[in-house]
Amino acid sequence: PRPLIIDADPGKDDAVAILLALASPEELDVVMLGAAAGNVGLDHTTANLLRLRELAGRTDIPVHAGCPRPIMRTLATVPHIHGADGLGGAELPPPAGAVSEPHAVAALIEAVRASPVPVTIAGIAPLTNIAVALVMAPDIVGQIREIAVMGGSFSGGNITPHATFNVFNDPHAADIVFRCGAPVTMIGLDVTRNTMPTREWCEQLRATGTPFAKVVADLWREPTAFMNDACVIAHLIAPDLLRCEPHRIAIETDACEEIGRTTSVAGEPNAAVATGIDREGFFELLMDRLARP
Ligand code: BDR
Ligand code: CA
Repeated sequence: PRPLIIDADPGKDDAVAILLALASPEELDVVMLGAAAGNVGLDHTTANLLRLRELAGRTDIPVHAGCPRPIMRTLATVPHIHGADGLGGAELPPPAGAVSEPHAVAALIEAVRASPVPVTIAGIAPLTNIAVALVMAPDIVGQIREIAVMGGSFSGGNITPHATFNVFNDPHAADIVFRCGAPVTMIGLDVTRNTMPTREWCEQLRATGTPFAKVVADLWREPTAFMNDACVIAHLIAPDLLRCEPHRIAIETDACEEIGRTTSVAGEPNAAVATGIDREGFFELLMDRLARP
């Protein structure tokens, strides 16, 4: 299995992504969970990582708390989408166990340096922690196999007409990540917009009766949200699910109306951009893994 660091802001779709990863030990070895500020504040996202880890019985995976705010901008949270605590609707164990030292940025650097093989990073939140790590320790680039990012779009945003939530919240961090030189995969709204589950799928998932299935079915009691972040993990498990094309991605970082916009520009490609998804295959994979006993 490939060693994987997940940097997340759970967040309903983050929860699906993390449970999918933890249910896929043949392909993925989750070595660290980093908490980012995003959907809700850092205290909540950190607590939610502890709760998800507890649910999965994986207290061996360290949870590290990261940066409480974006590099330059003021954090815009979305509790109306994810619930005040970030995982509205789910019955999860209370946070148990301790948050690990050091800070998520230092822990990410250490984990990458210590790994015998190049590490994959799933950035499914504003990219602050990953960017700060790249600024502090540019040497880690050579030890990164892939940074798979949930964010970006060629077809309009969700938080503004131009920008996606994760890039809008910390465009400067996204700019650092896309220009770092490591292989970046941009998995954005162009594909994640196809991941609204049907009511029937949610019912079928619940009927499997497993703890992971119940939590996801509870989070999607009303199927009104995309499972954005789960696309990143699905891509790492089954790369054929996404069709990707090389692009040079530029991030709008100026404080203008289009801040956070991702544009394909002329020049050497810096990212593989997901432009198509096998929707049926995605939901089959999710069902199969979440229904594992
Ligand atoms: C992304 O923003 C967050 O709200 C979700 O968790 C996902 O990472 C979707 O634009
Ligand atoms: Ca997220």
